[in-house]
Amino acid sequence: MSAKSSSVVRALAATAFFAAVAAATTPAAAQAAPPVKPPAIAQTCAACHGVKGISTIKDTPSLAAQPDIFTQYQLVFMRDGARKPGVMQAIVKNLSDENIRDLGAYYAALPPPPPLASKSDVDTAQVTALLTSRHCDSCHKADFSGQGESARLAGQRPEYIKKALFDYRTGVRRGRGMGAMIEVSVTLHEEEIDMIAAYLARKP
Ligand code: HEC
Ligand code: HEC
Repeated sequence: MSAKSSSVVRALAATAFFAAVAAATTPAAAQAAPPVKPPAIAQTCAACHGVKGISTIKDTPSLAAQPDIFTQYQLVFMRDGARKPGVMQAIVKNLSDENIRDLGAYYAALPPPPPLASKSDVDTAQVTALLTSRHCDSCHKADFSGQGESARLAGQRPEYIKKALFDYRTGVRRGRGMGAMIEVSVTLHEEEIDMIAAYLARKP
């Protein structure tokens, strides 16, 4: 990691700590983030991630309402090559630390994507058991709105959730911390991943 990025990571760690302290002491009603003016660079992102951070493109995640720190970390990982940036390669390599901070704050303040209206059957009890036994809620929160470096999953595109879980399982994406995501995804069967993705995508 370059000196430039390790300073962002240190700053992020400090922010995450203070955010956690603030979250513990702020009443829930006061937590809705005020709107943030779109940074100019967000126009480039909108081509794929949607105008309000709500993606309509397959395998491309919605970014709206993602926790600030999650977005910042992923952009740093992609800029540094720890996460493969794919089609974002050319864009992400030119992002400054300031761009990354602005983008994190901007997407965090956007209203979340609407829950997917899907007709496919999901056995809620079975999915809940899969998620509860793996403590997904302990990091992603009970309503799956995400926190800190753990992504928002509620309302995310289902095929993207599925792709992400496969990418962790196969080591394509390594994930933060102690490889928590590899550990929880490695024991899931494909049909279970399908069900989890459909369930989370429909969550408001
Ligand atoms: C050409 C299309 C394209 C453009 C332009 C683009 N992205 Fe992406 N972005 C993607 C795709 C596709 C992925 C999923 C990569 C994967 O599967 O790992 C992604 C992933 C991400 C992620 C990870 C989100 C998650 O939930 O895992 C973030 C954050 C992100 N992009 C932010 C941005 C920002 C900010 C910009 C503008 C500076 C941008 N992207 C521009 C296509 C694009
Ligand atoms: C110990 C904390 C922890 C637990 C438990 C956990 N996650 Fe995660 N999850 C994370 C973190 C941190 C990330 C971001 C990792 C990275 O950098 O790629 C993440 C990322 C994800 C992503 C990718 C989201 C995106 O937009 O890129 C999905 C999908 C996901 N988790 C689903 C789950 C599911 C389903 C479970 C339970 C089976 C679970 N997680 C359990 C911490 C956790």
